[in-house]
Amino acid sequence: MVKKLRNFKDLSHITIQFLLASILLSGVFSTVQAQTDTTSAPADAGAATAAADNGIPTTPEAISEGENLFSSNCAVCHAIDAQIVGPALQGVTERRPLPWLINFIKNSQKVIQSGDEYAVNLYNQYNKTMMPSFAFSDDQITSILAYVQSASSQAAAPGQAAAGDTSATAQTGGTAGQDAGISSSYLTIILIGLVIILVLILLVLILIVSVMTRFLKQREDLDEADQELMGQRTNFKKIVTSMPFIGIVTFIFMAIVVKVAIDGLYSVGVQQGYMPKQPIAFSHQLHAGQYEIQCQYCHTGVMKSKSANIPAANVCMNCHQQIKPESPEIQKIYAAIDFDPETQTYGNNKKPIEWVRVHNLPDLAYFNHAQHVNVGGLECQTCHGPIQEMPVVYQYSSLTMGWCINCHRETEVNASDNAYYDKLLELHEAANPKEPMTVESIGGLECSKCHY
Ligand code: HEC
Ligand code: HEC
Ligand code: HEC
Ligand code: HEC
Ligand code: HEC
Ligand code: HEC
Repeated sequence: MVKKLRNFKDLSHITIQFLLASILLSGVFSTVQAQTDTTSAPADAGAATAAADNGIPTTPEAISEGENLFSSNCAVCHAIDAQIVGPALQGVTERRPLPWLINFIKNSQKVIQSGDEYAVNLYNQYNKTMMPSFAFSDDQITSILAYVQSASSQAAAPGQAAAGDTSATAQTGGTAGQDAGISSSYLTIILIGLVIILVLILLVLILIVSVMTRFLKQREDLDEADQELMGQRTNFKKIVTSMPFIGIVTFIFMAIVVKVAIDGLYSVGVQQGYMPKQPIAFSHQLHAGQYEIQCQYCHTGVMKSKSANIPAANVCMNCHQQIKPESPEIQKIYAAIDFDPETQTYGNNKKPIEWVRVHNLPDLAYFNHAQHVNVGGLECQTCHGPIQEMPVVYQYSSLTMGWCINCHRETEVNASDNAYYDKLLELHEAANPKEPMTVESIGGLECSKCHY
């Protein structure tokens, strides 16, 4: 009986050791995880709503043609639900009749000079800012208005303000993070389960020990050694200094050291998360997010050249000649191009704004934006993350060779509507009819494609 008691006591000590070790482990694990975890919240796709019959088309073709025209001609000064240089256009198709809108967009000055009361008031309200004339056909203008109308009804529906395309990009940007999230949350669950089981075992053992002790206390035929054992309390100091416990702790410690060292080696030259301070507090969250200015408006190279380009200060001046001239940040733009807001004149003492480069591939690698954005049809956010939510840009992806290669293995080539690929697609389908045509199958893993 006394021997059994001793066994149970030993067992409960070992359980306490394991318990302490696993609490330690899960603590360490969750801090490591907090550093590496990326979360994402895909937005709900907005639903299209029907519009009143006012002569403005509601077909998806007209709306998408209108969206293109709008973003390349009007988005500089107009947003749907925010005032930029001109008024927010939400509901304008209900505010004004169609013929008026067509005339105004073709030549706003003509309408204003004709003495149209609404136009004159609006012009004065906007400090006599001239809206340029546009040589569009009536059809082109109605398609722009079709886009404005459909975007207005989407913006009006709360929670659905973000159009379908932004939610799609949020999702593609999120998948990589989700995979990592799932595997690490499994590990957390396993660790928590382990701790709970150990606590339960410990409780049962303590119960048994106390029942046995109480039972043995009633017996009088025990010798001194046995009595001592019964009077013994759980000795934490002994547990912590015992060999098995020290062994476990040393093992965990070594494992962490090795993991940190390996991570460190792998990340030499990798600058994921790099977020340098910029000379002007320019915010993508404000410009690309809140005011929905298209990326291409500033990064003009993405569709046609290797690099995306950082906009020159005169692009900023399209708006900031008028918007917030009193802000010290905006005055840094004025200083860079030597603009005097008092006299509205330019001097000759220009110096470029020294933006700090965030993304940087080594010279040995060749990357081309037009190929990925224009031909491949990829969204910026797939590689750059949710830029439209960043007050300060940071490097979202690792930009390692493995990152490029992984995507080339997994991504199907965007071959529809591209005559260039018709022949390749035929060949591919003849050879492997089952498999999709990935970038890998058109040679996207060949060293010379990415290395000079
Ligand atoms: C350079 C800036 C600028 C551009 C580019 C511009 N607008 Fe405007 N827009 C204005 C301003 C400013 C007003 C306010 C009236 C005024 O000052 O003439 C205005 C007014 C309007 C109005 C009347 C709004 C109302 O509330 O009644 C409509 C409609 C309009 N613009 C449509 C367009 C369309 C469509 C395009 C693109 C084809 C466009 N604008 C491009 C600056 C611009
Ligand atoms: C109003 C102009 C403007 C718009 C619109 C804009 N950007 Fe930028 N972008 C800038 C400027 C200026 C910089 C350089 C300063 C900085 O890094 O914040 C920059 C920097 C960047 C960088 C980092 C470049 C580097 O140094 O490696 C990326 C990536 C980027 N933009 C992507 C986007 C994407 C994606 C969008 C659309 C969602 C967008 N930008 C919209 C002006 C703009
Ligand atoms: C299409 C119009 C447009 C363009 C182009 C544009 N901005 Fe802006 N910017 C805005 C608007 C609108 C605001 C918000 C102003 C406000 O808060 O009243 C703003 C705000 C800012 C602010 C914050 C000012 C403050 O003190 O709150 C900074 C800084 C800024 N812009 C820098 C830039 C730079 C740098 C560029 C060129 C790379 C640029 N912007 C291009 C429209 C534009
Ligand atoms: C397939 C991934 C990918 C996509 C999609 C992508 N980029 Fe990039 N971007 C990169 C890489 C990689 C670099 C670094 C290039 C270098 O250092 O040569 C970069 C660099 C940049 C830069 C820094 C200046 C430059 O040209 O090197 C800007 C600005 C930028 N991207 C904007 C955009 C915008 C805007 C879009 C969407 C229209 C976009 N990118 C889409 C991968 C991508
Ligand atoms: C998000 C996915 C993605 C990432 C990340 C990516 N690419 Fe691509 N890449 C594509 C797609 C899709 C195409 C096919 C475009 C087309 O239709 O031609 C492509 C094509 C290419 C091609 C042309 C291949 C050929 O055979 O014509 C080169 C070169 C290339 N990528 C280089 C790079 C480099 C360098 C990187 C990393 C810095 C990179 N890519 C990262 C998706 C990606
Ligand atoms: C899809 C594009 C792509 C392909 C295909 C590709 N690489 Fe790379 N490679 C890169 C990029 C991007 C880097 C730079 C990565 C970095 O800075 O971490 C790189 C870096 C390297 C480096 C330098 C590593 C270092 O640590 O600096 C070597 C060596 C290399 N690649 C060899 C190859 C060989 C050999 C092949 C053919 C089997 C190949 N690459 C195919 C994109 C590619």
